[in-house]
Amino acid sequence: MQPDHYTELMREKLDHELFVHSLNVANAAAGLAERYGADKDKAYLAGIIHDYGKVFSNQKLVELAGQLDIPLDRITRQESRLLHAPVGAALIKKELQVSDPEILQAVANHTTGRRGMGRLEKVVYLADYIEEGRDFPAAEKIRQAAFEDLDRALLEAVEIAIRSVLDRGLMLHPRSVAFRNELVEEARVKQGK
Ligand SMILES: [Fe+2]
Ligand SMILES: [Fe+2]
Repeated sequence: MQPDHYTELMREKLDHELFVHSLNVANAAAGLAERYGADKDKAYLAGIIHDYGKVFSNQKLVELAGQLDIPLDRITRQESRLLHAPVGAALIKKELQVSDPEILQAVANHTTGRRGMGRLEKVVYLADYIEEGRDFPAAEKIRQAAFEDLDRALLEAVEIAIRSVLDRGLMLHPRSVAFRNELVEEARVKQGK
């Protein structure tokens, strides 16, 4: 695993804004990995390549999903932007020879989240929200929570993501709902409710 090699590849492949975002996510993911005992190198690498699929148009994402045997569901068929995550993961495996299953899963699930996310998946999902370029109103609050309590910060992040989907009139993916409900359930157990 050579993070520098992938960083240079992404510098060529992504536009400047997306490259800076990816670099920020990689750094945030590495910091969170260190804090929560996940693999720092894997977190950095997953961060730098997490939006590999974002360079494609929605139409191309659907086409690629077909070629790469990525099953579409009722939601991804209509909200095809979501496909940039699983399509990106499949392309990273095929074109960049990244085979680590944890990294591939973290990339594949960084948009919707899912129930039962592993440590690295959580770190990358959250890093996408707290990277230093993010300036939405609650970003600072989540940034602080991120280093205090991973799951509490994730709950705030996924709720913001869900609200934004609702505000924009988009279809909500059930995997995001499952992820959010799992975090609520776990928080209740922790609080002894
Ligand atoms: Fe993304
Ligand atoms: Fe991103």
